[in-house]
Amino acid sequence: MTQPQGSLEGKVALITGASSGIGAAAARVFAREGARVVLVARREARLKELSAELRAGGAQASYSAGDVQDSGDVEQAVAHAVETYGRLDVAFNNAGAGGELGPLHLLEDATYDLVMDTNVRGVWNCLRHQIRAMTHGGSIVNTSSVAGLVASSVPAPYIAAKHAVIGLTKAAAVECAADGIRVNAIAPGLTRSEMVEDWLARVPGQEARSKASAPQNRMAAPEEVAEAAAWLCSDRSSFVTGATLPVDGGRTAW
Ligand SMILES: NC(=O)c1ccc[n+]([C@@H]2O[C@H](COP(=O)([O-])OP(=O)(O)OC[C@H]3O[C@@H](n4cnc5c(N)ncnc54)[C@H](OP(=O)(O)O)[C@@H]3O)[C@@H](O)[C@H]2O)c1
Repeated sequence: MTQPQGSLEGKVALITGASSGIGAAAARVFAREGARVVLVARREARLKELSAELRAGGAQASYSAGDVQDSGDVEQAVAHAVETYGRLDVAFNNAGAGGELGPLHLLEDATYDLVMDTNVRGVWNCLRHQIRAMTHGGSIVNTSSVAGLVASSVPAPYIAAKHAVIGLTKAAAVECAADGIRVNAIAPGLTRSEMVEDWLARVPGQEARSKASAPQNRMAAPEEVAEAAAWLCSDRSSFVTGATLPVDGGRTAW
């Protein structure tokens, strides 16, 4: 009997925001599915520890520490993938930041800049370097949010940034289809992670309100979101491009 193949067997995958939350879960899911993974985020010690854990489990994993706001750092990460594993097939552009909380008219410019530069310029930087490197076709998944589909109860810059991620996703999907590169987005709902723990700790009652805003009335585990990203990154979703997949417990269905 032949062994069942993982859905990402042999693919070289770059994952940003891999030092915690959804990105760290994706590193484990992608490696389990047979991908050779390159982890990207700013906290190098976390990446080192996670890539060692994955290698100890039999996977091929390495990391390139960097800031997605910086085009040079992203270029270096993509070059690291190509130099280490010979190619780039898959990218999960997942790094993101929420910024300060508050109503639009009371927020500082610095919050707008941080949120736009991390979520939008970050995806912009990733797309440009990854598409250049995907000379054999590929699949890219960008992390948007429920806040990229509706004005949810998070600050305005984050809502604007996550809508922009969907715009970049559609534009890149249309431009790259003829080159065999698919580009999609996921729109997670409430998912347990550092960003969310911090938000819920700062706003009394928010956890119950956020859970109740979706029919499933719970928070996702980061692995549940990572599984959706893995499917979109794999050849099993071969006719899906330019799409945004809600992974939100039904949050945007009612
Ligand atoms: N959790 C949710 O409910 C939810 C819902 C919808 C969408 N999302 C999105 O999901 C993605 C992952 O977030 P998460 O929930 O898993 O939160 P998280 O645990 O806080 O993870 C955020 C990740 O992004 C990385 N990151 C932040 N700024 C970066 C930068 N400038 N350069 C490189 N990496 C950077 C962080 O690593 P370093 O600090 O080490 O750089 C970390 O690995 C984000 O795009 C977020 O907006 C989350």
